[in-house]
Amino acid sequence: MRIWVPSHEVVDVLSDLPGVECVVYDGRGPVPDGADEVEVWVPPLVTVPDVPGLLARMSSLRLVQTVTAGVEPYRPHMPEGAVLCNARGVHDAGTAEWAVGAMLAVLREFPEFVDAQRRGEWHYHHTGVLADSTVLIVGYGSIGAALERRLDGFEVDVVRVARSARDGVHAMEELPELLPAADVVVLLVPATEATSGMVDAAFLARMRDGAVLVNAARGGVVDTDTLLAELKAGRLRAALDVTAPEPLPSDHPLWSAPGVLITPHVAGSTPASVRRTFRLVRAQLLRYLAAEPLENVISDAY
Ligand code: GLV
Repeated sequence: MRIWVPSHEVVDVLSDLPGVECVVYDGRGPVPDGADEVEVWVPPLVTVPDVPGLLARMSSLRLVQTVTAGVEPYRPHMPEGAVLCNARGVHDAGTAEWAVGAMLAVLREFPEFVDAQRRGEWHYHHTGVLADSTVLIVGYGSIGAALERRLDGFEVDVVRVARSARDGVHAMEELPELLPAADVVVLLVPATEATSGMVDAAFLARMRDGAVLVNAARGGVVDTDTLLAELKAGRLRAALDVTAPEPLPSDHPLWSAPGVLITPHVAGSTPASVRRTFRLVRAQLLRYLAAEPLENVISDAY
């Protein structure tokens, strides 16, 4: 069975599995020959060029196991008979940790203090604080739960919102009533048709003055120009690990907007995620080879 894997480290992780021939395709060089013989594809973290064109050539494909939680580059183009599975859980720790760090950095004004430090300025003043605030998690899944566990101890109220309501979790339809009470709004939704541009002028207008928008989801969830206007007006602040466009061009006005902290889509890019990715890919391949039910299968409910 031929598998495309994203790195030589993944080859090592799978090397003892019987009947498995690993080919490394990291997306940077030319596409390896024999795409039509690949049965399982583990794509790299950074999306390869022309996923639709590639998937159309993969006529033997049975499984795409992503190393990302998001599957939007693959989902609309999956060939008939192939299953798509995501890396649910792999990036929970890294992304949740980034979100805590990002909200603290913005509220406690760390970027501004670093700027002052570079100028040798002792710029004493009060800042915001996370304590006593309300953190609204929009897209409450495994990353949201990991974030909530990490926020335990910061003396905040956590409000959970997901696609559909369940015990302790509000439905998306309730957002208009929930947004005005939030000091921090964390976006963790997947990129789908329903979430594209979801954070629009009406959404942002419902956020209270001085609130912080934290985007660890996808750039396309937020209307960049509208957010930019709110930042320039000094009404909202933001911490963005993802942007639209992405990568953000060096002359984009978002870089220099006031009150925004931007990181280059690194929330899950840590050794913790790498270790968890190796475990997940190996466990999934063992299931696949044993013809056992796969985990993290992407269904319509995604
Ligand atoms: C990262 O952005 C992921 O989707 O896991």
